[in-house]
Amino acid sequence: MIVDKQGRRFRSLRVSLTAACNYACNYCVANGQRLLKASNELSADQLIAAVGYLIEAAGIDKVRITGGEPLITDKFDPFLAAVMKLPLQDVSLTTNGQFLKEKRDVIVDAGIQRINISLDSLNPLRFRQIASGGDLASVLEGIDLMLEAGLRVKLNMVPLRSQNSGDIVPLLQYSLERGIELRYIELMRMGHLVNNAAFQADFFPRESILDMIREHYEFERTDAPFDSTSVRYEIPGKGFFGIIANESAPFCSSCTRLRLSSDGYLYGCISNNNRHFIGDLLDLPRHRGLPALQDMLVNALGDKQDAFKGEVTVMKLIGG
Ligand code: 5AD
Repeated sequence: MIVDKQGRRFRSLRVSLTAACNYACNYCVANGQRLLKASNELSADQLIAAVGYLIEAAGIDKVRITGGEPLITDKFDPFLAAVMKLPLQDVSLTTNGQFLKEKRDVIVDAGIQRINISLDSLNPLRFRQIASGGDLASVLEGIDLMLEAGLRVKLNMVPLRSQNSGDIVPLLQYSLERGIELRYIELMRMGHLVNNAAFQADFFPRESILDMIREHYEFERTDAPFDSTSVRYEIPGKGFFGIIANESAPFCSSCTRLRLSSDGYLYGCISNNNRHFIGDLLDLPRHRGLPALQDMLVNALGDKQDAFKGEVTVMKLIGG
């Protein structure tokens, strides 16, 4: 087992199937520039081989499928079917939800049990303004389909001071009515938001989120597990919500995440540009590939930071 000075190890792997996305959310990219696929993306088979290796070499026991937007690549169906057969405790999916209707059977038949859907507004116009595209009605229909199929649904909302802070309470009400756990993600200094003015203009801190909710609901903080990024709150008799307070309450010291980009790079930290190309190792015989990967993982773990500083590129490529 590879463990660092702070007792951190990799447990949870996020795999980006493609860097491409059908949205262009204004907190992710500047000027509505849609993300395209990376020039040398690995195939579904190569990504699966990499995950298999990482289970062995790093002790990964959880995989989250992400992007870009994972539902828009042909790799999604074969990757999902194959990853479900690997010895993992948990496989989950993060999506913007636009194509859930089209992918419903693939997702349900694979037996995946948890899905996180990004939803920043319940107002169709504001939704489109933030996402620079997409269709709210399709996302809502997709959410209903997942709930009907019995999946555990979480929603991710990024509250933005000047854009959707008015959606904070309506989205909570919507979620509580459906047994969905809503998680507010504090805006992070990623991409063009590393620029402080742009970040400050829209940053909406945890305390302000809680103040808004307090006007409508009584809630209490619960104990979150050690490596959880989100603090959970319970609204007695009604349900739960969470806040991922990267800025107000950083969780770097308990981070267990490792990220694999669609073009085959490992990232040990979302706040560090350092990356390690795993692609070449996949062609080596096992007795050479495995030790080489272990060395790489030591370096990737060394990339973890003591505190989140923000980063220009990483989030876009590897989907948070
Ligand atoms: N800050 C906070 N959350 C972000 N996401 C994307 N970019 C940022 C950012 N700069 C969110 C997406 C998605 C999740 C994986 O990360 O909205 O829900």
